[in-house]
Amino acid sequence: MDAEKVLSTDDITIRFGGLTAVSKLSLDIYPGEIIGLIGPNGAGKTTCFNIITGVYAPTEGKVYFKGKDITGMRSDLITKEGIARTFQNIRLFQSMTVLENVLISKHVRLKANPLEAILRMPRYTRARRRHYEECMELLRQVGLEDVAHEMATSLPYGKQRRLEIARALATQPTLLLLDEPAAGMNPQESLELMKFIEQIRHRFELTILMIEHHMEVVMGICERITVLDYGVTIAQGTPTEIQNNQQVIEAYLGAVETNA
Ligand SMILES: Nc1ncnc2c1ncn2[C@@H]1O[C@H](COP(=O)(O)OP(=O)(O)O)[C@@H](O)[C@H]1O
Ligand SMILES: [Mg+2]
Repeated sequence: MDAEKVLSTDDITIRFGGLTAVSKLSLDIYPGEIIGLIGPNGAGKTTCFNIITGVYAPTEGKVYFKGKDITGMRSDLITKEGIARTFQNIRLFQSMTVLENVLISKHVRLKANPLEAILRMPRYTRARRRHYEECMELLRQVGLEDVAHEMATSLPYGKQRRLEIARALATQPTLLLLDEPAAGMNPQESLELMKFIEQIRHRFELTILMIEHHMEVVMGICERITVLDYGVTIAQGTPTEIQNNQQVIEAYLGAVETNA
């Protein structure tokens, strides 16, 4: 295994009963890249994220993260290894504040032993304090500081999306998986999101794998793109190569045009 790769999926396949949702997908992602995963609805994109994050074990194939085999590893352990994700449908704790949402997520990284916690020993108190400050700093970095104490539900849609990303960042990932981050956004909001994703890539030294339907976002920030159709990889290449690929135009871009 090449340790230089951040993520590598080696011919992963998953079957649900008679349906092959993902078939022999091989992805290689290098440090600092933004990679796009596109394809029509039902193509198997979210399922790929579920395999990478340990929600499902693949029927065949292997997933390597920084050279380590993580195939079938528990989701929480994969988070600790350094992979974080957002969901196609926003999943926030609605009855909590913005800050609380990030605090809970960051808990994965809180180093305290249970006895210290129960006895509220100084080291634990200091760790809690630092934990809180780091979360506030994170909110500052993603531009949500001013709404830190508001309920997550009260945020406009675009900010809820941003909070979801902040929550993922709180676990200190190396690899960030974004599942349709621009879903439901207008062109202006999509453009802002694009800039935001670029910013966090640099600021947090991230590698990003992104599922997205908004072509202006995908073509605008992804260095390389993989196209799935019915679980099968029909193309891999640069945005220009993908835009000019006849099979992609027919399977995907064509379908989008007729739907529009
Ligand atoms: N847990 C599951 N059980 C059975 N079928 C599933 C399951 N998860 C996903 N699928 C099926 O796999 C296919 C790919 O789904 P998905 O990965 O969500 O597509 P996409 O994200 O590309 O729209 C769909 O046909 C979906 O119904
Ligand atoms: Mg999906």
